[in-house]
Amino acid sequence: MSERIRALRGFNDLLPGQSTRWREVLDTLRRAMSLYGYGEIKLPVLESTDLFARSVGEATDIVEKEMFSFLDREKTMMSLRPEGTAGCVRAGIDHGLLHNQQQRLWYEGPMFRHERPQKGRYRQFYQLGLEAFGMDGPDIDVEIIALFTRALRDLGLLDHGGAPLVQLELNTLGTSESRDQYRAALVEYLERYQNDLDEDSVRRLQSNPLRVLDSKDPTTRQIVSGAPLFDDFLDPRSAAHFASLQAGLRALNIAFVLNPRLVRGLDYYTRTVFEWTTPHLGAQSTICAGGRYDGLVALLGGGQVPAVGFAAGIDRVALLLEHARETTSRATDPTIYLCVLDAMAENAAAALAETLRDQGLRVLKNAGGGKLKAQLKRADRAQSHCAVILGEAELADGVALLKPLQNGAEQQRLPLENMPAALQAALAN
Ligand code: HAM
Repeated sequence: MSERIRALRGFNDLLPGQSTRWREVLDTLRRAMSLYGYGEIKLPVLESTDLFARSVGEATDIVEKEMFSFLDREKTMMSLRPEGTAGCVRAGIDHGLLHNQQQRLWYEGPMFRHERPQKGRYRQFYQLGLEAFGMDGPDIDVEIIALFTRALRDLGLLDHGGAPLVQLELNTLGTSESRDQYRAALVEYLERYQNDLDEDSVRRLQSNPLRVLDSKDPTTRQIVSGAPLFDDFLDPRSAAHFASLQAGLRALNIAFVLNPRLVRGLDYYTRTVFEWTTPHLGAQSTICAGGRYDGLVALLGGGQVPAVGFAAGIDRVALLLEHARETTSRATDPTIYLCVLDAMAENAAAALAETLRDQGLRVLKNAGGGKLKAQLKRADRAQSHCAVILGEAELADGVALLKPLQNGAEQQRLPLENMPAALQAALAN
């Protein structure tokens, strides 16, 4: 026997059931994008490695150790995209979409990072994100936060039996100048504790000191708790932007908490940063994240264009939805299982199934024959709400049998003519 070939670590198959929840999440987000007037942009999965090195940042975990990069046949260094913002900005510049104009764009698709896989963290994962270009005020920050909040509400993840499943965390990173000043003060402070910091933090002290604030190491966290606060270095315009953002969110009744330790793992952010987190997914708690990146378009050669955006991790939102559905029972569209008693009724059953589907009813028609008992077993396995049973005798009487499967109600005879309406009425009871 030949040896089995297995899937790559961190690259998952999505099975029916899971994929239904994915579709619900994606449909909800796509609808929100449309309601706020965002246009879809389709971006390639491969880009030149330089694009990510320059935008996400040479010293970030993503670029340092998580990209799937390789030389192609023409010796061009390319990478599977680890995120969508860099490609979206590149495309915006390439197609002249960003110069002196406003753009509201969204995208979706697989992203790739060579991380250690665990629940909610994969090497191929799926993001749906948006980017808004050419608007520098807090009003657009409020808009995109309201958009994702609406999607969460539509999914039933905002008010879940009174307890919110997610929390919106906010911070500001100021301008790059104010951050430089802060960085210098932070390095000066942390250098005093160099011997006690964890290994990663010592390395980051030179390359990316703000990430030390994010460390999970207990000793480092203790040191960090005494570090200078960014608030004392924040420039007045960024402070005013941040205050208006908070006022705007309050005006829309959007709850948030301030988290001064929120720094994000990508270098391009300025001013506003935010994350939606949940306590229900273990260590991989962020389901959606983003912020403002006013310097990135210029850094990639496109002139001074302010921008803000976010990306939702669809794998994680779908896991959260699964968790939420386990704790409430939300009705899904019913499935009707159509049992066929004999070969004579086969064609009539196929035609009946089509008529029911024309009315938007989901019909799983028995295939592959079998006794009624076996067919009803299949119906059960498919979690059908009811079975409709059709044989030669029923056809002769102009009826079909309706057998409810989930509530022990009596079997009924329904007239074949006007069957969709009769079924819908029966299902409604
Ligand atoms: P990010 O925080 O790197 O930001 O990723 C956004 C979201 O993608 C995360 O909050 C998480 O839900 C999901 N995600 C990230 N890595 C993984 C993984 N290995 N497995 C599963 N899910 C994952 C960005 O990518 C920015 N481009 C967001 C943005 C857009 N900022 C401005 N515009």
